[in-house]
Amino acid sequence: MRLYLDHNATTPVDPRVADAMNDAVRRCFGNASSIHAFGQAAKAALDDARSATAELLGARANDVIFTGSGTEADNLAIRGVAEAALPAGRRHLIASAIEHEAVLNTLKALTKRGWTSTLLPVGPSGVVDPADLEAAITDRTAIVSIMHANNEIGTVQPVAELAGIAHAHGALFHTDAVQTAGKLPIDVTALGVDLLSISAHKLNGPKGVGALWTRRGMRLVAPTTGGRQERNRRAGTENVPAIAGLGVAAGLAASKLAVEAGRLATLRDRLEAGLLERVPDSTVNGSGERVPNTTNMSFHGVEAEALLIALDLEGIAVSTGSACSSGTLQPSHVLRAMGLTPQRAQSSIRFSLGLGNTEADVERVLDALPPLVVRLRALSRSPAHAHA
Ligand SMILES: Cc1ncc(COP(=O)(O)O)c(C=O)c1O
Repeated sequence: MRLYLDHNATTPVDPRVADAMNDAVRRCFGNASSIHAFGQAAKAALDDARSATAELLGARANDVIFTGSGTEADNLAIRGVAEAALPAGRRHLIASAIEHEAVLNTLKALTKRGWTSTLLPVGPSGVVDPADLEAAITDRTAIVSIMHANNEIGTVQPVAELAGIAHAHGALFHTDAVQTAGKLPIDVTALGVDLLSISAHKLNGPKGVGALWTRRGMRLVAPTTGGRQERNRRAGTENVPAIAGLGVAAGLAASKLAVEAGRLATLRDRLEAGLLERVPDSTVNGSGERVPNTTNMSFHGVEAEALLIALDLEGIAVSTGSACSSGTLQPSHVLRAMGLTPQRAQSSIRFSLGLGNTEADVERVLDALPPLVVRLRALSRSPAHAHA
């Protein structure tokens, strides 16, 4: 049996989500903007999903905009605010150096079009220091975008405090909560944010659907122009089956969040402690509060790609970091921002647990991984490898 420990890349669809989507495909084919009964059925499916998604975020249903992905939600937030803030002369954008590419490359694109941007550093903990935001922010800053938790190392960022600093300077605050929705309790009011992104496929929902929550009254210039769907924020006929799937996934996640978070934290801690004990010269990357399902570990002297492939041959799926940037052979920008040497960054593996994982799965990794590390270390020290 193959073992899947890469839930931060994506998660399997819960069968109940698949059933709901199947039902929506067959039953809710009407256009949600149509007035007739077929349209109303589709609209009702959207309304249900909007309520369930809002509930997961401690938000009002009307303030949830469905998008085509977490990436699109991040784009809508940052581009939408950046454009809307232009008349006020706010042309500066801030994010952290450890954001997902969805945020980093959006800032990069905007800087080519006249905006300026600042990336906040992180120390070895993998956490943004609010003092760095305080030093970087100006009265020309339009938006600060700092993720709720990092996808590669799981560190939770001090979002409420950072949002407070942004607001004190008249800037808006966006958080990418793609890796926390369904893993940690989220309350948009307690977090004090203005915009928050999520993605269905990280919480046992389908791919290709996400949501952006925006505070009521927020001015956004939508990058996509067209029909008046999603309160004029996201033009295009809604993907009703996918959105229905997000709604059911959000409801299921909310109903089991506390229990599942505790269960996964116990498994993760057992995995981490076991590997630290059995593999000499191994370390955990990132510290402080982390999402309960994630650990990122360096096995010094081992090429992470080689270890990943060796584990895959044993039927165990892990990751070297973000699925979007793997295969590039570039050391992770997150680990590099934390000050890890390229060698250590390239010896790092991410384990991300999820719904089906059990104690037996953890034991399987604890048995399989240490001998692979011994073998790969021996190989990398051999003269043949040195001359290769
Ligand atoms: C933190 C974070 N933000 C954004 C995304 C992008 O979400 P999506 O895959 O739905 O575009 C991901 C997923 O890889 C992520 O981990």
